[in-house]
Amino acid sequence: MSVVEIKMIPNGPLEMKGDFKIIRPDGKEEEKSGTIHLCRCGHSNKKPYCDGSHVKAGFKD
Ligand code: FES
Repeated sequence: MSVVEIKMIPNGPLEMKGDFKIIRPDGKEEEKSGTIHLCRCGHSNKKPYCDGSHVKAGFKD
């Protein structure tokens, strides 16, 4: 069984470690392995991934 580790970065993204399949709203699938950061602030221009925009946006969780 593979384990996925999810860490909430304070005032930032979700850090995920493991093997993933990202399924976009249009149905396109993307296989990922390793560490990824998913945006939780809504300001990223590279959604679903964090691009650091949360800092400029002053995102607080
Ligand atoms: S959490 Fe980093 S850009 Fe949204």
